[in-house]
Formats: sequence, C-alpha cells, structure tokens
Amino acid sequence: MNKAFQIVEYARYLLKSEHWRGHGVHSPFMYKFIRETLMKASKKPNASQYAKELKRIAPRTIAKSNFGASPSNETDSTTRLLQKISISPKYGKLLNTIVCNYGPKEVLELGSGLGVSSYYLANSNPNSHIVTVEGMKAYADIAQATFKNLGVTNVSVNNSTFNVFFENLTPTQKFDLIFIDGAHTYEATISNFERSLIVAAPEAFIILDDIRWSEDMLRAWNDVKQHPKVRVSADFGRIGIIFLNPVLQKQEYQVRY
Ligand SMILES: C[S@@+](CC[C@H](N)C(=O)[O-])C[C@H]1O[C@@H](n2cnc3c(N)ncnc32)[C@H](O)[C@@H]1O
Repeated sequence: MNKAFQIVEYARYLLKSEHWRGHGVHSPFMYKFIRETLMKASKKPNASQYAKELKRIAPRTIAKSNFGASPSNETDSTTRLLQKISISPKYGKLLNTIVCNYGPKEVLELGSGLGVSSYYLANSNPNSHIVTVEGMKAYADIAQATFKNLGVTNVSVNNSTFNVFFENLTPTQKFDLIFIDGAHTYEATISNFERSLIVAAPEAFIILDDIRWSEDMLRAWNDVKQHPKVRVSADFGRIGIIFLNPVLQKQEYQVRY
C-alpha cells in the first residue's frame, strides 16, 4: 500500500469524475442507477450493530491475514484490523443499496475479512443469499458467530481458499452479483475477475473494491474494463462496477460519488 499514491489518485478521481446527480448521462440504465441507488445510499444504516457484537465476542487480538498482498504471521488488535480491512460506511451503504434495489438472488463475495461488507450486502435484504469466502479460519469463525448472534440468516460463510471454492462449484451455479475483495495484487485481482466471469449470470454486476489502493490495483481495474465481456464500467472512486448485461451499450463512466 502506498498512501501518497492513494491520495494523488483519489484527488485525480475527484477532478475527473462527473455526472453529479446524473447530469450528462444519456444511458437510462446508468441514469437510474445514479438517481435511485447512488444518491439514496447515504440514507442506509451503517454496520455499527455488527461491529459492536463482533467486538463483544472476538478475542482482543487476532492473526493478520496470510492471504493478502503482504502475507504475515503477526497479530493485530481486532479493533484495528476491523478498521483496516473492512469496507467504509460510505461504500458499504452503496453495496447495501445496490442489493436492495436490484435484488440479486445469489451474491458471491471473495474475501469476507471479518464480515463487515457481507453484513452490508445482507442487511435488510432477506431475499438475497450471500455466499462469502474467506481463507482465514479465525475470521470466518468470528463472522459466522456474529451473524448467528444477530439473527442474520441469509449469509453463508465459507472457510476456504478461493481456489478450492471455485473448484468445488457445480457447473450450473451462477451469481447475480459478485464482490471481489481478496488479495490486493494485480495477478490475484485479474484471476479473481476471470474466475468470476465464469460463474456470473448473464446480467451480473461485478464489483471490485480498492481500485485505487495501489498502482497494481489501478492497473488491474484498467485492464478489467477492457475485457470483451464488459459492457459498462463505472468508477466510483474506491470501488469500480462492471455491468455485463449484453443489451447495454459499451461505455465507461467515472461518476462522482
Ligand atoms: C480486504 S479483506 C476483506 C474485507 C471485507 N470484504 C470487508 O470489507 O469487510 C480481504 C480478505 O480476503 C482474504 N483472502 C485473500 N485472498 C484469499 C484467497 N486466495 N482465498 C481465501 N481468502 C482470501 C484475506 O484473508 C482477507 O481476509
């Protein structure tokens, strides 16, 4: 992670992004997305209830992930790790609103961490089933226990590597929305995207987190956008969304959020 890179790239995004409140967007699909999803997201609740219960049951310290961009055998305080790896409320609320408005039946998340983004995907969206995959057993166990204690029943936490998870999927299993938030390297992101394409429903949304986390992540996002199966790409600063629906006109957006 390079903090200076993140600051410069985010500033560049702020300068270049447009379509505030949908201005200048001709595509009815994207206009509706901006007006009814992006602009409504801030009204959604945050994940404080989830974080409170998690901190109540989790140990005070926890191992750092050995699957990330910089694998580690060290431990960290659970509170700090929660803060460091979890999606922010601003973007978590956007995930929540997307699921609420588009009602994907099957959602796949690659990288549960401690379950915060899974909670945003699942909360108040009982008709969507979230499958979240996490290689660190300690993280998966804590997330599972927190969901159980809060009575959230539409999340299945799968403690497995992504490789094993994809190998064991039945060929007919398809996902309507996929959130990719695994190791933040170029190779892992491209590989996770390509494997996601295979299990994506024809009109699926594929969301990539932390596209400005590093030079490699931004390069991965720029390459993903060029994939021939991608119809529309939309850059919202921290996250990028790929829309696969073949009826959409090919277009790239950089939208102010
Ligand atoms: C950034 S964290 C996820 C944070 C979470 N999505 C959130 O916002 O609350 C990435 C997670 O992906 C897991 N991970 C990375 N590569 C993996 C792999 N190949 N198989 C399984 N888990 C992996 C890491 O252990 C880590 O917990």
